[in-house]
Amino acid sequence: MSGRLDSDIEKVLISEEEIAAIVSRLGERISVDYADKNPLIVSVLRGAFIFVADLMRAITVPCNVDFMAVSSYGDGVKSTGVVNIVKDLSTDVAGRYVIIAEDILDTGLTLARLVELIRGRDAASVEVCAFLVKDIEGYTAPLSPKYVGTHVPNEFIVGYGLDYAEGYRNLPYVGVLKPEVYAEK
Ligand code: XMP
Ligand code: MG
Repeated sequence: MSGRLDSDIEKVLISEEEIAAIVSRLGERISVDYADKNPLIVSVLRGAFIFVADLMRAITVPCNVDFMAVSSYGDGVKSTGVVNIVKDLSTDVAGRYVIIAEDILDTGLTLARLVELIRGRDAASVEVCAFLVKDIEGYTAPLSPKYVGTHVPNEFIVGYGLDYAEGYRNLPYVGVLKPEVYAEK
């Protein structure tokens, strides 16, 4: 890893301006759909925290936020298929209109597990807002989010909350890492 985060990036996939437009569109739609519902935005830590901070400010109706931490990727780039709840919600979701906000839907295993869990706690509704959805050829995810920011190719991406080995979350855009960055590890 060199001194500047930028120099480890092969290409920018989604610019700051594009992110702002995506988030504001999602916020407008949620504001219309949940006008009288006081939705609970469930932010999946850590990756979604920057997205959720922006999304909440793009929502113009009352809403609440709570956080949940799960681990599915560890420090590497491959999905383990195992989802551990590291930190649970503090909010009672019974009767609540829940929107799970996720940074990225890859295999969808993490989100499918979370939706099932929150449904099981008698939420009034559970929907998913995924900032990014990875398009994986020949693969159909186990759930389709109600709200999708945009689609990305099947590459490992970083920035805007998304990490590689806990780094690069503070990049203000979404990009693809240079392959040699993984090789260094
Ligand atoms: P699944 O496969 O369960 O994975 O949909 C979802 C979680 O895995 C992380 N993930 C990524 N993180 N760059 C990242 O920094 C990626 O390209 C990527 N793909 C998946 C992410 O935390 C997500 O919640
Ligand atoms: Mg991660």
